[in-house]
Amino acid sequence: MNILVTGGAGFIGSHTCLELLNAGHAVIALDNLSNASEEALKRVQEITGKELKFYSVDLLDYHKTNSIFEENQVDAVIHFAGLKAVGESVAIPLKYYNNNLTGTLNLLDIMQKHQVFNLVFSSSATVYGVPEKLPITEDSPLSTTNPYGTTKLMIEQILQDLYLSDPRFSLVILRYFNPIGAHKSGKIGEDPKGIPNNLLPFVAQVATGRLKKVNVFGNNYPTPDGTGVRDYIHVVDLSLGHLKAIEKKANIPGVHIYNLGTGRGYSVLEMIHAFQEASGVEIPYEIVAPRPGDIAASYSDPEKAKKELGWEAQYGIEQMCIDSWNWQRKNPEGFTK
Ligand code: WQD
Repeated sequence: MNILVTGGAGFIGSHTCLELLNAGHAVIALDNLSNASEEALKRVQEITGKELKFYSVDLLDYHKTNSIFEENQVDAVIHFAGLKAVGESVAIPLKYYNNNLTGTLNLLDIMQKHQVFNLVFSSSATVYGVPEKLPITEDSPLSTTNPYGTTKLMIEQILQDLYLSDPRFSLVILRYFNPIGAHKSGKIGEDPKGIPNNLLPFVAQVATGRLKKVNVFGNNYPTPDGTGVRDYIHVVDLSLGHLKAIEKKANIPGVHIYNLGTGRGYSVLEMIHAFQEASGVEIPYEIVAPRPGDIAASYSDPEKAKKELGWEAQYGIEQMCIDSWNWQRKNPEGFTK
Protein backbone atom coordinates (compact mmCIF):
# COMPACT_ATOMS: atom_id res chain seq x y z
CA MET A 1 0.00 0.00 0.00
CA ASN A 2 0.97 3.67 -0.41
CA ILE A 3 1.03 5.03 3.13
CA LEU A 4 1.26 8.68 4.14
CA VAL A 5 2.96 9.06 7.53
CA THR A 6 2.39 12.47 9.14
CA GLY A 7 5.13 13.32 11.63
CA GLY A 8 7.19 10.74 9.76
CA ALA A 9 10.55 12.22 10.77
CA GLY A 10 9.78 11.98 14.49
CA PHE A 11 10.81 9.34 17.03
CA ILE A 12 7.92 6.90 16.53
CA GLY A 13 7.21 8.14 13.00
CA SER A 14 10.69 7.35 11.68
CA HIS A 15 10.71 3.90 13.29
CA THR A 16 7.29 3.20 11.74
CA CYS A 17 8.43 4.39 8.28
CA LEU A 18 11.30 1.91 8.60
CA GLU A 19 9.02 -1.04 9.38
CA LEU A 20 6.56 -0.08 6.62
CA LEU A 21 9.42 -0.02 4.06
CA ASN A 22 10.74 -3.35 5.34
CA ALA A 23 7.25 -4.82 4.89
CA GLY A 24 7.18 -3.69 1.24
CA HIS A 25 4.87 -0.67 1.55
CA ALA A 26 5.54 2.62 -0.25
CA VAL A 27 6.01 5.49 2.23
CA ILE A 28 5.27 9.19 1.85
CA ALA A 29 6.51 11.06 4.93
CA LEU A 30 5.19 14.50 5.90
CA ASP A 31 6.79 16.55 8.67
CA ASN A 32 7.11 20.26 9.54
CA LEU A 33 10.44 19.46 11.26
CA SER A 34 9.43 21.56 14.30
CA ASN A 35 10.63 18.74 16.58
CA ALA A 36 12.37 16.36 14.18
CA SER A 37 15.29 16.18 11.74
CA GLU A 38 15.20 15.12 8.08
CA GLU A 39 18.42 13.25 8.89
CA ALA A 40 16.26 10.60 10.58
CA LEU A 41 14.56 9.84 7.26
CA LYS A 42 17.89 9.77 5.41
CA ARG A 43 19.07 7.14 7.88
CA VAL A 44 15.81 5.15 7.57
CA GLN A 45 16.56 4.89 3.84
CA GLU A 46 20.17 3.89 4.53
CA ILE A 47 19.11 1.15 6.97
CA THR A 48 16.40 -0.31 4.72
CA GLY A 49 18.09 0.31 1.37
CA LYS A 50 14.70 1.62 0.20
CA GLU A 51 13.52 5.09 -0.76
CA LEU A 52 10.65 7.13 0.56
CA LYS A 53 9.14 10.46 -0.49
CA PHE A 54 9.46 13.33 1.98
CA TYR A 55 7.43 16.55 2.12
CA SER A 56 8.46 19.31 4.53
CA VAL A 57 4.88 20.44 5.09
CA ASP A 58 2.81 21.60 8.06
CA LEU A 59 -0.71 20.15 8.35
CA LEU A 60 -1.86 23.69 9.17
CA ASP A 61 -1.09 24.50 5.53
CA TYR A 62 -4.27 23.07 3.98
CA HIS A 63 -3.22 23.81 0.39
CA LYS A 64 0.20 22.14 0.61
CA THR A 65 -1.22 19.14 2.46
CA ASN A 66 -3.96 18.82 -0.17
CA SER A 67 -1.32 18.93 -2.94
CA ILE A 68 0.31 15.80 -1.51
CA PHE A 69 -2.96 13.93 -2.11
CA GLU A 70 -3.20 15.44 -5.62
CA GLU A 71 0.34 14.30 -6.49
CA ASN A 72 0.22 10.83 -4.88
CA GLN A 73 -2.15 7.88 -4.71
CA VAL A 74 -2.59 7.58 -0.93
CA ASP A 75 -4.15 4.32 0.31
CA ALA A 76 -3.84 4.91 4.07
CA VAL A 77 -2.60 7.50 6.54
CA ILE A 78 -0.75 7.01 9.82
CA HIS A 79 -1.12 10.27 11.76
CA PHE A 80 1.65 11.04 14.28
CA ALA A 81 2.10 14.78 13.67
CA GLY A 82 1.35 16.83 16.77
CA LEU A 83 2.84 18.68 19.72
CA LYS A 84 3.28 16.30 22.67
CA ALA A 85 4.94 17.89 25.70
CA VAL A 86 2.58 17.74 28.69
CA GLY A 87 4.15 20.61 30.64
CA GLU A 88 4.40 22.86 27.56
CA SER A 89 0.74 22.20 26.75
CA VAL A 90 -0.24 23.64 30.15
CA ALA A 91 1.80 26.79 29.43
CA ILE A 92 0.62 27.39 25.84
CA PRO A 93 -2.72 25.55 25.44
CA LEU A 94 -3.93 27.61 22.46
CA LYS A 95 -0.88 26.54 20.41
CA TYR A 96 -1.59 22.90 21.30
CA TYR A 97 -5.30 23.10 20.46
CA ASN A 98 -4.66 24.89 17.18
CA ASN A 99 -1.77 22.72 16.08
CA ASN A 100 -3.14 19.32 17.08
CA LEU A 101 -6.84 19.88 16.34
CA THR A 102 -6.74 22.13 13.26
CA GLY A 103 -3.96 20.02 11.75
CA THR A 104 -6.03 16.88 12.22
CA LEU A 105 -9.23 18.50 10.91
CA ASN A 106 -7.38 19.62 7.77
CA LEU A 107 -6.02 16.11 7.27
CA LEU A 108 -9.40 14.41 7.74
CA ASP A 109 -11.18 16.86 5.40
CA ILE A 110 -8.58 16.28 2.69
CA MET A 111 -8.72 12.51 3.17
CA GLN A 112 -12.51 12.47 2.79
CA LYS A 113 -12.32 14.70 -0.29
CA HIS A 114 -9.80 12.33 -1.90
CA GLN A 115 -11.73 9.22 -0.75
CA VAL A 116 -8.91 8.00 1.49
CA PHE A 117 -10.74 6.17 4.27
CA ASN A 118 -7.98 4.33 6.15
CA LEU A 119 -6.47 6.11 9.15
CA VAL A 120 -4.30 4.98 12.07
CA PHE A 121 -4.22 7.66 14.78
CA SER A 122 -1.44 8.09 17.35
CA SER A 123 -3.29 8.44 20.64
CA SER A 124 -1.91 8.03 24.15
CA ALA A 125 -2.56 6.32 27.48
CA THR A 126 -2.82 9.85 28.83
CA VAL A 127 -6.51 9.75 27.80
CA TYR A 128 -7.11 7.42 30.76
CA GLY A 129 -6.19 10.15 33.25
CA VAL A 130 -5.82 8.76 36.78
CA PRO A 131 -6.69 5.06 36.29
CA GLU A 132 -9.34 3.73 38.72
CA LYS A 133 -8.03 0.17 38.35
CA LEU A 134 -5.02 -1.57 36.80
CA PRO A 135 -4.29 -2.96 34.30
CA ILE A 136 -5.97 -0.44 31.99
CA THR A 137 -8.30 -1.85 29.32
CA GLU A 138 -9.70 -0.03 26.27
CA ASP A 139 -13.05 0.43 28.04
CA SER A 140 -11.48 2.01 31.14
CA PRO A 141 -12.91 5.48 31.90
CA LEU A 142 -11.46 8.38 29.91
CA SER A 143 -10.42 11.70 31.41
CA THR A 144 -7.53 14.08 30.91
CA THR A 145 -5.53 16.37 33.18
CA ASN A 146 -3.65 18.55 30.66
CA PRO A 147 -4.28 20.23 27.29
CA TYR A 148 -1.99 17.80 25.43
CA GLY A 149 -4.02 14.82 26.66
CA THR A 150 -7.26 16.69 25.98
CA THR A 151 -6.28 17.21 22.32
CA LYS A 152 -5.82 13.44 22.02
CA LEU A 153 -9.21 12.78 23.62
CA MET A 154 -10.90 15.41 21.44
CA ILE A 155 -9.42 13.89 18.29
CA GLU A 156 -10.68 10.46 19.35
CA GLN A 157 -14.17 11.98 19.69
CA ILE A 158 -13.82 13.68 16.27
CA LEU A 159 -12.98 10.29 14.76
CA GLN A 160 -16.02 8.67 16.40
CA ASP A 161 -18.28 11.41 15.00
CA LEU A 162 -16.64 11.20 11.57
CA TYR A 163 -17.32 7.47 11.37
CA LEU A 164 -20.99 7.97 12.37
CA SER A 165 -21.32 10.50 9.53
CA ASP A 166 -19.41 8.44 6.97
CA PRO A 167 -19.19 4.66 7.58
CA ARG A 168 -16.74 4.21 4.74
CA PHE A 169 -13.95 5.09 7.18
CA SER A 170 -11.68 2.57 8.91
CA LEU A 171 -10.32 4.49 11.91
CA VAL A 172 -7.76 2.80 14.18
CA ILE A 173 -6.95 4.55 17.47
CA LEU A 174 -3.71 3.32 19.08
CA ARG A 175 -3.21 4.33 22.70
CA TYR A 176 0.53 4.19 23.43
CA PHE A 177 1.92 3.71 26.87
CA ASN A 178 5.55 4.84 27.31
CA PRO A 179 7.59 4.43 24.11
CA ILE A 180 11.38 4.12 24.64
CA GLY A 181 14.37 2.41 23.01
CA ALA A 182 15.68 2.67 19.45
CA HIS A 183 16.27 0.64 16.31
CA LYS A 184 19.02 -1.98 16.85
CA SER A 185 21.32 -0.18 14.35
CA GLY A 186 21.61 2.77 16.73
CA LYS A 187 21.21 5.06 13.69
CA ILE A 188 17.80 6.43 14.68
CA GLY A 189 16.34 7.13 18.11
CA GLU A 190 14.71 9.63 20.42
CA ASP A 191 16.16 13.14 19.98
CA PRO A 192 14.09 15.59 22.05
CA LYS A 193 14.83 19.29 21.59
CA GLY A 194 16.31 20.91 24.72
CA ILE A 195 16.17 19.26 28.16
CA PRO A 196 14.17 16.01 27.87
CA ASN A 197 10.78 15.95 29.60
CA ASN A 198 10.63 12.16 29.56
CA LEU A 199 12.57 9.81 31.84
CA LEU A 200 14.53 7.62 29.43
CA PRO A 201 16.08 10.26 27.17
CA PHE A 202 17.00 12.16 30.34
CA VAL A 203 18.67 9.04 31.83
CA ALA A 204 20.47 8.39 28.54
CA GLN A 205 21.86 11.93 28.50
CA VAL A 206 23.09 11.50 32.07
CA ALA A 207 24.84 8.31 30.91
CA THR A 208 26.68 10.22 28.17
CA GLY A 209 27.56 13.01 30.61
CA ARG A 210 25.48 15.61 28.75
CA LEU A 211 23.34 15.97 31.94
CA LYS A 212 24.60 15.59 35.52
CA LYS A 213 21.98 13.56 37.39
CA VAL A 214 18.43 12.30 37.20
CA ASN A 215 15.83 14.09 39.30
CA VAL A 216 13.46 11.38 40.53
CA PHE A 217 10.06 13.05 40.82
CA GLY A 218 8.91 11.75 44.21
CA ASN A 219 9.27 8.45 46.08
CA ASN A 220 6.12 8.48 48.20
CA TYR A 221 3.71 7.03 45.66
CA PRO A 222 1.73 3.89 46.61
CA THR A 223 4.09 1.71 44.52
CA PRO A 224 6.62 -0.99 45.53
CA ASP A 225 9.56 1.42 45.87
CA GLY A 226 7.53 4.66 46.08
CA THR A 227 8.53 5.94 42.62
CA GLY A 228 6.25 6.23 39.59
CA VAL A 229 5.38 3.05 37.68
CA ARG A 230 4.86 3.05 33.90
CA ASP A 231 4.37 0.53 31.07
CA TYR A 232 7.48 1.09 28.93
CA ILE A 233 7.25 -0.29 25.40
CA HIS A 234 10.05 -0.67 22.83
CA VAL A 235 9.57 1.78 19.95
CA VAL A 236 10.13 -1.07 17.46
CA ASP A 237 7.30 -3.07 19.08
CA LEU A 238 5.16 0.04 18.88
CA SER A 239 6.01 0.55 15.19
CA LEU A 240 5.16 -3.06 14.38
CA GLY A 241 1.80 -2.46 16.09
CA HIS A 242 1.06 0.18 13.43
CA LEU A 243 1.99 -2.21 10.66
CA LYS A 244 -0.37 -4.83 12.09
CA ALA A 245 -3.13 -2.23 12.47
CA ILE A 246 -2.85 -1.31 8.77
CA GLU A 247 -2.64 -4.91 7.63
CA LYS A 248 -5.56 -6.16 9.74
CA LYS A 249 -7.94 -3.18 9.75
CA ALA A 250 -7.44 -1.23 6.48
CA ASN A 251 -10.71 -1.24 4.49
CA ILE A 252 -12.57 -2.66 7.51
CA PRO A 253 -15.03 0.15 8.32
CA GLY A 254 -15.36 1.08 11.99
CA VAL A 255 -13.54 2.68 14.90
CA HIS A 256 -10.98 0.22 16.26
CA ILE A 257 -9.28 1.10 19.57
CA TYR A 258 -6.19 -0.66 20.99
CA ASN A 259 -3.78 -0.25 23.89
CA LEU A 260 -0.17 -0.69 22.78
CA GLY A 261 1.79 -1.62 25.89
CA THR A 262 3.61 -4.62 27.35
CA GLY A 263 1.17 -5.15 30.23
CA ARG A 264 4.04 -4.77 32.73
CA GLY A 265 4.89 -1.75 34.85
CA TYR A 266 8.35 -0.67 36.01
CA SER A 267 9.29 2.03 38.52
CA VAL A 268 11.64 4.95 37.96
CA LEU A 269 14.30 3.34 40.15
CA GLU A 270 13.93 0.02 38.30
CA MET A 271 14.45 1.85 34.99
CA ILE A 272 17.53 3.66 36.30
CA HIS A 273 18.94 0.33 37.50
CA ALA A 274 18.13 -1.37 34.17
CA PHE A 275 19.87 1.42 32.28
CA GLN A 276 22.96 1.12 34.51
CA GLU A 277 23.07 -2.61 33.74
CA ALA A 278 22.65 -2.00 30.00
CA SER A 279 25.21 0.80 29.75
CA GLY A 280 27.71 -0.19 32.43
CA VAL A 281 27.56 3.49 33.46
CA GLU A 282 26.56 4.66 36.95
CA ILE A 283 23.52 6.95 36.78
CA PRO A 284 23.52 9.48 39.65
CA TYR A 285 20.07 10.51 40.84
CA GLU A 286 18.38 12.58 43.51
CA ILE A 287 14.86 12.21 44.91
CA VAL A 288 13.05 15.54 44.47
CA ALA A 289 9.44 16.75 44.78
CA PRO A 290 6.75 14.99 42.71
CA ARG A 291 5.97 16.56 39.30
CA PRO A 292 2.53 18.23 39.35
CA GLY A 293 -0.01 16.20 37.38
CA ASP A 294 1.92 12.92 37.53
CA ILE A 295 0.02 9.74 38.35
CA ALA A 296 1.39 6.99 40.59
CA ALA A 297 1.04 4.00 38.30
CA SER A 298 -0.12 3.11 34.80
CA TYR A 299 0.17 -0.10 32.83
CA SER A 300 -1.90 -1.72 30.11
CA ASP A 301 -3.91 -4.83 29.44
CA PRO A 302 -2.75 -5.43 25.84
CA GLU A 303 -4.94 -8.52 25.26
CA LYS A 304 -7.29 -6.89 22.73
CA ALA A 305 -4.43 -6.02 20.34
CA LYS A 306 -3.06 -9.54 20.72
CA LYS A 307 -6.44 -11.10 19.90
CA GLU A 308 -7.58 -8.78 17.09
CA LEU A 309 -4.30 -7.60 15.55
CA GLY A 310 -2.15 -10.61 16.27
CA TRP A 311 0.31 -8.21 17.90
CA GLU A 312 2.17 -8.32 21.19
CA ALA A 313 5.30 -6.66 22.48
CA GLN A 314 8.41 -8.81 22.08
CA TYR A 315 11.08 -6.79 23.90
CA GLY A 316 11.68 -6.42 27.64
CA ILE A 317 13.20 -3.45 29.50
CA GLU A 318 16.72 -4.89 29.21
CA GLN A 319 16.59 -4.69 25.39
CA MET A 320 14.84 -1.32 25.55
CA CYS A 321 17.72 0.07 27.65
CA ILE A 322 20.43 -1.64 25.56
CA ASP A 323 18.99 -0.15 22.34
CA SER A 324 18.41 3.26 23.92
CA TRP A 325 22.02 3.36 25.14
CA ASN A 326 23.34 2.13 21.74
CA TRP A 327 21.57 5.06 20.03
CA GLN A 328 22.61 7.67 22.62
CA ARG A 329 26.30 6.71 22.84
CA LYS A 330 26.57 6.72 19.04
CA ASN A 331 24.70 10.04 18.80
CA PRO A 332 25.44 12.01 21.99
CA GLU A 333 24.13 15.19 20.31
CA GLY A 334 21.22 13.44 18.59
CA PHE A 335 20.86 14.03 14.85
CA THR A 336 22.72 17.34 14.85
CA LYS A 337 26.25 16.56 13.71
C1 WQD B 1 7.78 8.56 33.41
C2 WQD B 1 8.04 8.43 34.91
C3 WQD B 1 7.81 10.50 36.10
C4 WQD B 1 11.25 12.41 34.12
C5 WQD B 1 4.31 11.28 29.22
C6 WQD B 1 3.03 11.68 28.53
C7 WQD B 1 2.61 10.59 27.60
C8 WQD B 1 3.74 10.29 26.64
C9 WQD B 1 4.96 9.84 27.43
C10 WQD B 1 3.56 11.68 24.70
C11 WQD B 1 7.05 9.21 35.75
C12 WQD B 1 9.25 10.00 36.15
C13 WQD B 1 10.25 11.53 34.50
C14 WQD B 1 12.27 12.77 35.04
C15 WQD B 1 11.25 11.34 36.68
N1 WQD B 1 4.06 11.44 25.87
N2 WQD B 1 10.27 11.00 35.75
N3 WQD B 1 12.24 12.21 36.30
O1 WQD B 1 4.75 11.29 32.25
O2 WQD B 1 4.43 8.75 32.05
O3 WQD B 1 4.07 10.17 30.04
O4 WQD B 1 5.30 10.94 28.29
O5 WQD B 1 2.85 11.00 24.03
O6 WQD B 1 1.47 11.01 26.89
O7 WQD B 1 2.01 11.84 29.50
O8 WQD B 1 6.38 9.85 30.92
O9 WQD B 1 8.84 9.73 30.87
O10 WQD B 1 7.73 11.92 31.56
O11 WQD B 1 7.67 9.95 33.12
O12 WQD B 1 11.24 10.86 37.83
O13 WQD B 1 13.21 13.58 34.74
O14 WQD B 1 9.34 8.96 35.20
O15 WQD B 1 7.41 11.05 37.35
O16 WQD B 1 6.82 8.49 36.96
P1 WQD B 1 4.87 10.04 31.44
P2 WQD B 1 7.72 10.43 31.57
